[in-house]
Amino acid sequence: MAVGGTITSVLAWQIEAGADEAVADAPLDRFAVASGRAPPSPEPSPEAASASVAANDLDSLKADFEAFDGCPLKETATNFVFADGSAGARLMFVGEAPGAEEDRQGVPFVGPAGRLLDRMLAAIGLDRSDAYITNILPWRPPGNRNPTDSEIALCLPFIERHIALVGPEVLVAVGGTAAKALLGTREGIMRLRGRWFNYSVPGSDARIPLRAVLHPAYLLRQPAQKRDAWTDLIAIKKQLADPGTPG
Ligand code: URA
Repeated sequence: MAVGGTITSVLAWQIEAGADEAVADAPLDRFAVASGRAPPSPEPSPEAASASVAANDLDSLKADFEAFDGCPLKETATNFVFADGSAGARLMFVGEAPGAEEDRQGVPFVGPAGRLLDRMLAAIGLDRSDAYITNILPWRPPGNRNPTDSEIALCLPFIERHIALVGPEVLVAVGGTAAKALLGTREGIMRLRGRWFNYSVPGSDARIPLRAVLHPAYLLRQPAQKRDAWTDLIAIKKQLADPGTPG
């Protein structure tokens, strides 16, 4: 094979494996890291809980979270993606993690999945200004890989505090990863969607009705599932119109 062809196929292989962003000016010698000649990636640190609990408003939470160095994803992400929408909204969406477009713009749900989320909101007569939108993780996992349990655990105290500070009337977990993280369960999204949960706000007696919905990125791949998503959207609309214990 010609040299040009070899280089192209190596690059294609790297992109397929998720190495689709330049993350530093100089290469990192992974063999040196493994042999102990260079410092390994940071280990999970208990600082997460104390940093988040100290925040008494959204600006402080954003600053604390952005300054938090305990999650290795921060090293590879381009931007810290905190939230979008209105902080006073009655409806709060929590997705999984920024994708490529969100990482570039520093705003959640602005790529293809975000555009479908906007259309889902419009279907129940709402737009971004009627909602508050964030993610479990504020940094993009490289190549859009699934976040690890450890990355989620590290950032969980921040999203818990985030929810407490926003204090929505209805909480929507967008996709299985967000639903499992917030509900502390291993059950899959197909079992979690279609019903209401009572989310206990950590550190308070407050309870918020939580609905898990199919992720718009999944709906883009499986449009036939939009029927189920519609059922959940109607339930959310009903709950906003008639607050109280959902039934
Ligand atoms: N998927 C998510 O879960 N969150 C985003 O912000 C974008 C895509």
